[in-house]
Amino acid sequence: MKLLSRKIETIIEPEAVIEGAGVRLKRSIATRRLNYLDPFLLLDDFASNNPRDYEAGFPLHPHRGIETVTYVLRGEVRHKDTLGNSGSIGAGDVQWMTAGRGIMHEEMPQVRPEGIAGFQLWVNLPAKLKMTPPRYQDIRSSEIPEIKMDGGARLRVITGTVGEVRGPVTEIAANPIYLDAFVPAQSSFSQPIERGHTAFAYVFEGEAKFAGDDKEDGTMISHPRLVVLGDGDYVKVITGETPVRFLLVSGKPLHEPIARYGPFVMNTKEEIEQTLRELRQGTFVTT
Ligand code: CO
Repeated sequence: MKLLSRKIETIIEPEAVIEGAGVRLKRSIATRRLNYLDPFLLLDDFASNNPRDYEAGFPLHPHRGIETVTYVLRGEVRHKDTLGNSGSIGAGDVQWMTAGRGIMHEEMPQVRPEGIAGFQLWVNLPAKLKMTPPRYQDIRSSEIPEIKMDGGARLRVITGTVGEVRGPVTEIAANPIYLDAFVPAQSSFSQPIERGHTAFAYVFEGEAKFAGDDKEDGTMISHPRLVVLGDGDYVKVITGETPVRFLLVSGKPLHEPIARYGPFVMNTKEEIEQTLRELRQGTFVTT
């Protein structure tokens, strides 16, 4: 059987958004053009050297029915929740949080000389896991394998498998791949992605072509852009004069109805109303 390369399906230009208590972000999923990329609900890119863009942070807020994945490239985000968990996510670290039936937490970027940069991705949970107990996977930078490929590409494997190397985040319902990939100039890189899984690349430095082997379509994608990839067995990335750095993310689509209200994502409107009732009555977070 011939393996099929994934072509570009859509190119999304991130929108400027102000979120939390006044944090400036670039959002590419959960936007007018791309509301939902099953199972991915939201993708935010935060990067600034100006404390005014980020110091207000994300004070205490709830989540239910989803997972939030925070990947910090520079600076530090402190977090604390009402279940008694707290800690800090620094440069190169990842927090994969399964909110499940509910958490209330704060996420506060710290003012530091290097500023802040990173991403937050929301991954939907299947109906049967929406009310699962909350779970954290805090992964330090040193625990994330970095692979050097022939041709010079370097990959940080957060979850999923590249060759023989498996990322440290495990047992996630969407069976995701989450890679931070760097490809030098005049080079190329391919990665298998299971057919039928949703996949996107988020280009945040430099530029590249996301083209198959058969008929390269020649579209050069410059940062910042989200590239939604069509179905196939693998993605091939080709660089020209400039290197590229991007997130490569894939996951199994749920094909379930969604009812979405801010930080809550359930299957029905009734479940959202129930959640809001619990919040009002103070029974939202049960330990
Ligand atoms: Co949050």
